[in-house]
Amino acid sequence: MLNQLPDGFSALVIGASGGIGRAVTDAVLASERPGSVVGVSRQKTSHPDPRFESLVLDVGQTDGLAALESHLEGRPLHFVFNAIGILHDVDSGIAPEKKLADLDAEAMTRLFHINAITPALLLKALEGNFKGRHTALFASLSARVGSIGDNHLGGWYAYRASKAAHNMLMKTAAVELRRLNPEMTVVCLHPGTTDTALSLPFQERVPEGKLFTPSFVAERLLAVLDKLPKQESGLFLDWAGKPVPW
Ligand SMILES: NC(=O)c1ccc[n+]([C@@H]2O[C@H](COP(=O)([O-])OP(=O)(O)OC[C@H]3O[C@@H](n4cnc5c(N)ncnc54)[C@H](OP(=O)(O)O)[C@@H]3O)[C@@H](O)[C@H]2O)c1
Repeated sequence: MLNQLPDGFSALVIGASGGIGRAVTDAVLASERPGSVVGVSRQKTSHPDPRFESLVLDVGQTDGLAALESHLEGRPLHFVFNAIGILHDVDSGIAPEKKLADLDAEAMTRLFHINAITPALLLKALEGNFKGRHTALFASLSARVGSIGDNHLGGWYAYRASKAAHNMLMKTAAVELRRLNPEMTVVCLHPGTTDTALSLPFQERVPEGKLFTPSFVAERLLAVLDKLPKQESGLFLDWAGKPVPW
């Protein structure tokens, strides 16, 4: 697993409480290879493996990012998996828009903040941990519906646009970070439709056999990361390792 990284590599999972984030944490810890795995979430998460550390903070807030930065200061990071994201929120009345008339500035701002701005600010906060000559990999969950080239259905304005913005921010950072560390790779991943709280209200429309379990997705995504071409950073790949059009 993640054979491009050294034995005893340090890993960080952002959104370790989420469906995919938790499964990726479990899958990484199922291997002997990582030396430490820090799981960041707003609520405490637990894992029996002594290599796991739960860090409770909100990366969507400035003070949360500052706490993350100071907690990890001076530690080189080899693997960061960003699994945060929002599509809907019943409590605040946020649901994917079906038509222009549904657009709401506050809901759009919230989705852009969590899906696009926060992953970019995470890269900013962790820049010092990536700097150097060690192999470093930052994988961030995107979504195929964030593909502009692949948008034939319309709808879901804020989610689509925030993921498209996410992809541009990751691609731009990929260019800069290669200058900071030539062994650093940034990748955007589409996990496929996965059985988590995020997809729950929309699962009825998913064709038979196309709703993946989080553990299948974690295993697939780690396999995709294992085979990343060394020369390229800033790719957008799906769970099968196929490029997704921007
Ligand atoms: N599930 C799918 O079918 C699917 C398909 C395509 C792409 N994706 C993408 O995959 C990623 C993971 O989704 P999932 O399916 O695992 O969903 P999930 O189970 O709902 O997990 C979402 C994660 O995002 C975190 N999060 C949400 N709002 C946040 C906020 N305001 N501040 C900080 N953290 C916040 C959650 O933390 P808390 O636990 O603290 O709320 C949780 O860790 C998302 O980026 C999603 O867009 C999912």
